[in-house]
Amino acid sequence: MVQLVPYSTADPTKIDAIRAFVIKTDPTLPSNMWLYRCTLHSWPQLCFMAMDGEAIVGVVISTVQIHHNNMLRGGIMLLLVRKDYRSCGLGRRLVAQAVESLIDADADEISIVTKTTNTNAIKIYERLGFIRTKLLPNGGGGQSWRMMLLLEPLTEELWDCSSEDCAEACGCGLFSGSAGSLSSCNSGCDHENGQHETSYRTT
Ligand SMILES: CC(C)(COP(=O)(O)OP(=O)(O)OC[C@H]1O[C@@H](n2cnc3c(N)ncnc32)[C@H](O)[C@@H]1OP(=O)(O)O)[C@@H](O)C(=O)NCCC(=O)NCCS
Repeated sequence: MVQLVPYSTADPTKIDAIRAFVIKTDPTLPSNMWLYRCTLHSWPQLCFMAMDGEAIVGVVISTVQIHHNNMLRGGIMLLLVRKDYRSCGLGRRLVAQAVESLIDADADEISIVTKTTNTNAIKIYERLGFIRTKLLPNGGGGQSWRMMLLLEPLTEELWDCSSEDCAEACGCGLFSGSAGSLSSCNSGCDHENGQHETSYRTT
């Protein structure tokens, strides 16, 4: 039975174990020790390991930081499941746990970036309510989606797009009201003034 166990600063050797698990499972993922140390020291409560007995078989690591307009933005920085434990719902469990921990950390929104080809990860995020907000070009590595889960209703203060000036500048429809009305801005404009991301689209 695989259990989700929070990382604890009481056992910092787990940082090495997590890093070793990542390097062994997917050598293309970040391996810099300082990255793991800094992240886990800063946000220990946002890291969860999937443990089968003593073995780490999955991990999710998140962060939370102030973003635009004082929004507290959570981010899922790393999600990984051991190959022989995939397709059993473990990835989904880890993301659900990460979302829960970010809600506890008072995040207003959660952002992730995932390759457009990573259909399994996209399925997990969409099932948990994330929506695709921006297509990111990524050099030789292919395109990625930025996906967001809004935990707080949108207000005019949070989204520049709802201001009259901005709407005039980019010519799009207005974002306004709560998250439930996101689909009202489907003009598909790119908001080239850089003040906000592309229009939300529900999928
Ligand atoms: C992405 C990843 C975490 C998913 O882990 P997982 O444990 O297999 O995820 P789940 O079992 O919860 O499955 C997720 C979805 O993919 C589908 N899926 C998984 N394996 C599949 C397969 N072989 N064929 C078809 N669909 C599959 C599941 O059906 C599920 O969709 P559903 O909710 O509609 O049923 C895992 O593949 C992984 O570690 N990949 C490498 C790292 C990575 O890409 N991380 C994400 C970066 S954003």
